[in-house]
Amino acid sequence: MQEKKQVKITDTSLRDAHQSLMATRMKTEDMLPIAETMDKVGYHSLEVWGGATFDSCMRFLDEDPWERLISLRKAFKNTRLQMLLRGQNIVGYRHYPDEVVEEFVKKAIANGIDIIRIFDALNDVRNMQKAIEATKAENGHAQGTISYTISPLHGLNHFVEVAAKIKNMGADSICIKDMAGLISPYDAYELVKSLKEEVGLPVQLHCHYTSGMASMAYLKAVEAGVDVIDTASAAISLGTSQPPTDSMVASLKNTPYDTGMDLELLGEVSNHFKEVRKKYDIPLDVALGVDTNVLNYQIPGGMISNLASQLREQNASHLLGEVLKEVPRVRADLGHPPLVTPSSQIVGSQAVVNVLLGERYKMVSNEVKGYLKGLYGLPPGEMNQELQKQVLKEETPVTCRPADLLEPVMEKSREEIKEYIQKEEDVLSYILFPNVAVDFLKRKKGELPPLDNGKKQKQESVAQKKNNSGAGKKQWDKLQKIIDQDLMQVFGNVLVYPVQ
Ligand code: CO
Repeated sequence: MQEKKQVKITDTSLRDAHQSLMATRMKTEDMLPIAETMDKVGYHSLEVWGGATFDSCMRFLDEDPWERLISLRKAFKNTRLQMLLRGQNIVGYRHYPDEVVEEFVKKAIANGIDIIRIFDALNDVRNMQKAIEATKAENGHAQGTISYTISPLHGLNHFVEVAAKIKNMGADSICIKDMAGLISPYDAYELVKSLKEEVGLPVQLHCHYTSGMASMAYLKAVEAGVDVIDTASAAISLGTSQPPTDSMVASLKNTPYDTGMDLELLGEVSNHFKEVRKKYDIPLDVALGVDTNVLNYQIPGGMISNLASQLREQNASHLLGEVLKEVPRVRADLGHPPLVTPSSQIVGSQAVVNVLLGERYKMVSNEVKGYLKGLYGLPPGEMNQELQKQVLKEETPVTCRPADLLEPVMEKSREEIKEYIQKEEDVLSYILFPNVAVDFLKRKKGELPPLDNGKKQKQESVAQKKNNSGAGKKQWDKLQKIIDQDLMQVFGNVLVYPVQ
């Protein structure tokens, strides 16, 4: 008989699953009642924090993300808790100075996080270094990440090279993060095998179901020796979420890879989320079926819904096909970055602008300009130099680690927000999301009325529609505003799905 190699499971129900299916809207009160049961299952870890949950808590749910973490920590006595960190972007959309990364990691671990999964949208390892160091300094488990994508530049060698660099920085394990659900079963097999053989760290595979291949990819990865797979409770799995925990556990039963998990307990967990999901409006095209655009265009599902809503706002839904073709061209001009927050928004919005204005790069978003300048780091491939010159003019691109250019902000921010700070963590919330955090802290103090979700968003949307008739400069200003908003995930009353 084959040697036993138990496969371990990270369940994403409390983070990625609802970020992917419910625009990150699951409330803490819908999580806590099932915690005791989940705590008995024996997961390797539970992903519960980070990604878009931080922003969404304050912006939409009137919840303090730090308090959510503290109550989850209390509820899960036996299970490791995990979070997703966007490297130097922390849980935001731009780079922050090292002192902020250090302080955030410190507080995340102090409040209950055990494992931090650290990624960079460009796979520029310099943008992961500080977060990995900070995690190790706090005795956390630092998981370095390769953002999986398909391009002429992304072969096995590239990924193994990135993983080796991550290992050298002191990471404890490697995650293959297939945010778009692009990885085919046989590619997953090859990649896991190469990483196991050539890098030698534990490997975890994170896929989304979008293209319909994820469970097959997991099975082949298991055969190749993957250590951990990411799944979501059956009731909130599939679609743009992860493969179902229950089905993976059943598939591996009585094999050398048996997870040892109890299907009855998992059934209880799923029954809980079956009830929870009824409260949230999950669009059918997100929750069901296979997104063939992902197979054809290699564009993540979340990104396509963002593009569709940008076009809808401009009354140009009929241009979606053209935009889908423009995305790979813009991506090539930008050196083939993986498409994940924030590069997915940067590339996608510019593709929309190029198609809408009928001329490529007639206008360029602030984000694309910053990107061309090197402020997001180095992409895997060469950027289009002509475009770089056209946009940057006299300015020269930077080649250093972007965060080296940033001045400290902690002291200054603490001063700015001092009348609202109730705990040190509030300073971090403010640095990451200044406007959102101030409003949130004011509501907490009773200086602003509580959030009335549905109403507030509807009004914004009507106001936007009213001034939707301009041309030229006005139209451009509006586009830029929409792009900025999209990066901040707010898009009128349209649900926006950050890609990760
Ligand atoms: Co994900």
